[in-house]
Amino acid sequence: MKFQRFPILTVALATGSMALSSKISETYIGPENGHLVIVGGNLQSDTIWQKIIALAGGPEAPLVVIPTAGGEPTYNDSLSSVASFRRNGAKNVTVVHTYDPAIADTEEFVAPIREAKGVFFDGGRQWRLVDAYAGTKTEHAFQAVLDRGGVVSGSSAGASIQGSFLARGDTANNQVMVGDHTVGFGYLKNAAIDQHVLVRNRHFDMFDILQAYPGLLGVAVDENTALVVHQNEAEVYAGTYVLIYDGGFWSREEQSELKNLPPPESRFYFLRPGDKYDLGLRKVIQVEEATEL
Ligand SMILES: *[C@@H]1O[C@H](CO)[C@@H](O)[C@H](O)[C@H]1NC(C)=O
Ligand SMILES: *[C@@H]1O[C@H](CO)[C@@H](O)[C@H](O)[C@H]1NC(C)=O
Repeated sequence: MKFQRFPILTVALATGSMALSSKISETYIGPENGHLVIVGGNLQSDTIWQKIIALAGGPEAPLVVIPTAGGEPTYNDSLSSVASFRRNGAKNVTVVHTYDPAIADTEEFVAPIREAKGVFFDGGRQWRLVDAYAGTKTEHAFQAVLDRGGVVSGSSAGASIQGSFLARGDTANNQVMVGDHTVGFGYLKNAAIDQHVLVRNRHFDMFDILQAYPGLLGVAVDENTALVVHQNEAEVYAGTYVLIYDGGFWSREEQSELKNLPPPESRFYFLRPGDKYDLGLRKVIQVEEATEL
């Protein structure tokens, strides 16, 4: 069975009013310039590392790695993410780290980020990134990387930090979904991002957040899987699956209306590499062709 590809324009027109389309074009859920690469932890795939390098502008593009979520006393160039970037051709990778927001607010600290075309947030606990960088010159410099067309990327904690709502932001443990830190860096607006979702059987956890904040979009990315976002377009780039919690339902199968689905507030569905989702319309807009059965 073959499935049709839907051009984005068709979907936008099908929603009707001009007011709606102009609102969508003015306010993007993702970055207006540049790209996000949101990886659900355990990033092994060279395809994904290469995608980040390409979106930054190629091997010469200055990249900064932010290991701060990891919680180690000190960091140096021996990080595995630095090695992965270099193995995949990146020639200019700098580790930038502090736990002290006063340092993060200095020009000297922020200088490499001001030059960077790519940022990568390593894994660990996402609230450490908030404690170190929120409201500082460093946080503004991260946003500026996007504004000049670069890439903000990250895996695990480095995925969740990209949402406006900080999923699993509790300092006590990594199981509480609505914790003592709830504000992320917000490159993906009005959204909560979870990670390691299938490998760790986390697929019901997002509802803790959505019950408290029903307007949010829930996005949960599996391990070694990348969601690439620009403006309102999100594409599963490589790996296994990304789970979408938008109160709707979508299936690769025809006649899915014959299914016995749970109520909208309890639904989620899966996208796979090649599938595209419009974050503004909250609709699947491109379906990778189904395997012939
Ligand atoms: C890395 O990029 C920075 C910023 O563009 C530049 O100043 C520096 O010379 C580059 N380093 C190398 C080794 O290319
Ligand atoms: C770099 O960090 C690693 C891991 O913490 C450590 O084993 C190594 O000794 C450090 N290298 C230097 C040169 O400080």
